[in-house]
Amino acid sequence: MKAVTVQPGVADSVRFEEVPEPDESTGSILVEAVAVGLCGTDVEIASGKYGWAPPGRDRLILGHESLGRVIDPGPERSLKPGDLVVGIVRRPDPVPCPNCAVGEWDMCRNGQYTERGIKEIDGFLSERWRTEPGYFTKMDPSLGLLGVLLEPTTVVGKAWELVGAMRARAFWEPRLVLVTGAGPIGMLAAMIGVQHGFDVHVLDRVTEGAKPQLVHDVGATYHSGAVTDVGFQPDVVIECTGVGSVIVDAIRSVGSGGVICLTGVGSGGPTSGLSPADVAKELVLQNNVILGSVNANRRHFYRAAEALAAADHAWLERLITRQVPPQDIAQALKHGPDDIKVVVDFGAS
Ligand code: BGC
Repeated sequence: MKAVTVQPGVADSVRFEEVPEPDESTGSILVEAVAVGLCGTDVEIASGKYGWAPPGRDRLILGHESLGRVIDPGPERSLKPGDLVVGIVRRPDPVPCPNCAVGEWDMCRNGQYTERGIKEIDGFLSERWRTEPGYFTKMDPSLGLLGVLLEPTTVVGKAWELVGAMRARAFWEPRLVLVTGAGPIGMLAAMIGVQHGFDVHVLDRVTEGAKPQLVHDVGATYHSGAVTDVGFQPDVVIECTGVGSVIVDAIRSVGSGGVICLTGVGSGGPTSGLSPADVAKELVLQNNVILGSVNANRRHFYRAAEALAAADHAWLERLITRQVPPQDIAQALKHGPDDIKVVVDFGAS
């Protein structure tokens, strides 16, 4: 079969090439690929800055935002041929740490977890892939191709769950939410915020293109410019840019008792005038929280599937701005100015 592979650590090593059929040891459920979404992590891996090949190999099959159709469910009784499924990304560490031992691999404590298409296990950018019982989510068939949005929805679903856990601190009635960044993660974070009944505002750099209207149509308010100019103090910030200056402005702007949830991964960039002690002072004097959120466990996949099924499907469709065949992976990994979510389409939908 054909797959998109990469040599982690080596820039521009992505190839669409012949690989062996997925080994039965990788799971009893056989699936044909329908589509795979691409994100910044894939771009990082393709540029040699992130990612790990499986032990004893140089190359990794890329792709962690999957959607596939079951060919053979094996002994899994909840599935039948033709069902649409999404594979779970992370596998628990082998020790296991206490969190992995209870199925919270997204909170792995020793860093020995593995991730499909990212860290030491093959991903989903192959014509066929396998998964183990317990590491998939069966999708509502009415979502069709939109099921490919599940994985990024799990990431923001977990972020929202962590924000909700902050209610245990004190009496807290959050209302105003600021989402920074109107990429797929920001859009889906806004969608869930609106589903929860919050007054959601989304900030991005652009003033043109599809983003302002998409934000409006999901029921949120669009802003461009600086966080400090939005004109209100958010109770919650879901940070989806990873840009240092945006993060610092979010810390300055969040209201007292507020929560900033960081989901973006960036690096470098100019430093602002705020020293660590200044940041700490802002947090202490206002009882504010900054928390980081990565990955998702089975519960988040389950809930995200419900959130997607409940969403306006026509709106979700507009998030997928480009569908590219797997042989054109190099173009797919180049982020265009109008791209929101680019999807590799295996033509099986
Ligand atoms: C994926 C997560 C993963 C993280 C770090 C993200 O792009 O969505 O599942 O845990 O990268 O590798």
